Amino acid sequence: MSAPKKLFIKTYGCQMNVYDSERMAEALGGEGYVETKSPDDADMILLNTCHIREKAAEKVYSELGRFKGLKAEKPDLKIGVAGCVAQAEGQEIMRRQPLVDLVVGPQSYHRLPEMEAKAREGEKVLDTDFPEEDKFEKLKNRPKAKRGPTAFLTVQEGCDKFCAFCVVPYTRGAEVSRPADRILREAQDLVERGVREITLLGQNVNAYHGAGANGDMTLAQLIWELDKVDGLERIRFTTSHPNDMQDDLIEAHGTCAKLMPYLHLPVQAGSDKILKRMNRAHTAESYLRLIERIRAARPDILISGDFIVGFPEETEADFQATLDLVEGVKYGTAYSFKYSTRPGTPAAERPQVDPKEADDRLQRLQALLTKQQREVQDSMVGRDVTVLFEKAGRLPGQMVGKSDYLHAVHVADCDRAIGDLARVRILSSGANSLAGALID
Ligand code: 5AD
Ligand code: SF4
Repeated sequence: MSAPKKLFIKTYGCQMNVYDSERMAEALGGEGYVETKSPDDADMILLNTCHIREKAAEKVYSELGRFKGLKAEKPDLKIGVAGCVAQAEGQEIMRRQPLVDLVVGPQSYHRLPEMEAKAREGEKVLDTDFPEEDKFEKLKNRPKAKRGPTAFLTVQEGCDKFCAFCVVPYTRGAEVSRPADRILREAQDLVERGVREITLLGQNVNAYHGAGANGDMTLAQLIWELDKVDGLERIRFTTSHPNDMQDDLIEAHGTCAKLMPYLHLPVQAGSDKILKRMNRAHTAESYLRLIERIRAARPDILISGDFIVGFPEETEADFQATLDLVEGVKYGTAYSFKYSTRPGTPAAERPQVDPKEADDRLQRLQALLTKQQREVQDSMVGRDVTVLFEKAGRLPGQMVGKSDYLHAVHVADCDRAIGDLARVRILSSGANSLAGALID
């Protein structure tokens, strides 16, 4: 038997890319590839790219340039670009970087084995279609390999919201939900392979409306079906849009024990003028009221968010409104970005904010968000949480896992195994994690 071919995948960007990379590795596994951690001994290199901000795409080009020497040494090495940069700039990548053999957009991953075969024969292959077929059905999990205790599961993909700054509706396409029975089968399979916690993924996950036995299901209905899966202990989902936060989902946060008290609910900005120009279709006030209702259902829920500063025509007063909104919410964690022009999106044509001013605002926002994150993390000290252990710690006898609130927790003298859940008393709060002790 010939030695297996080696595949090196580098993943950029969001959790959906992490999930997609796993599916691509499995699909190419069927073609005799095993994964390697180093590009140096690979027969195929795949970059699974992100196009959400400028720097992400530029990183891909500079990474590709670094493979020049490798390809010169090993002419049989195949180099592929997948993900949202592939979708947005397919032809351009082939033109700008002749090293690239294969370009595949996110909706065509199930065609990867055929594409790889063509590339092996020396063809340059590009597929950035939006085909009708269900790629996930065709990308079946082949090996029944054991898995770690946490996994992602894509339930919905694409977006119809068209926020004025965002490329997702163009790169991932229109919003599509997977049928519930397929998701439940995949969840069951993951649990049989050792998974205890599943994070449901979608660009607009709470707009989920996949087909169920009795018509379309809501995300909350899907969560209640997953709640019945024995051995599955925790359910999370991301990313949600405020306008799709339906009553049954809010209620589930108060009543479904497996649904974790953590919600990523991006608001992007606090000024109604800017929100309108972003095409967000909600106001600061409606967002704050929504947070109140969610906290009424689940008072200890940790809220996470995304922010953009320096969106075209954002004034200092608009930015102040963002700071005010942050003060009003108190975020447990948040991601904030300087606006980055995405060609082809409506905001790209508008008057841009001075980059220095935008940098300054980003720093001020991040200082406030970091302070809040710190306060929320520190407030865990003295409390009891449930931890799902994910790996051994650096110190002997130490284990590390995540609390219900997604904080990393270190536990010393821990006799539990990876995949175990245990009650832990939080004793201290460090730079980026908590430390606790098992409660007998
Ligand atoms: N510039 C800066 N940030 C952006 N995001 C999306 N598009 C842009 C852009 N053009 C941010 C949003 C989104 C997160 C995933 O990335 O905050 O919620
Ligand atoms: Fe992009 Fe999210 Fe807006 Fe959709 S809802 S356009 S994915 S920011």
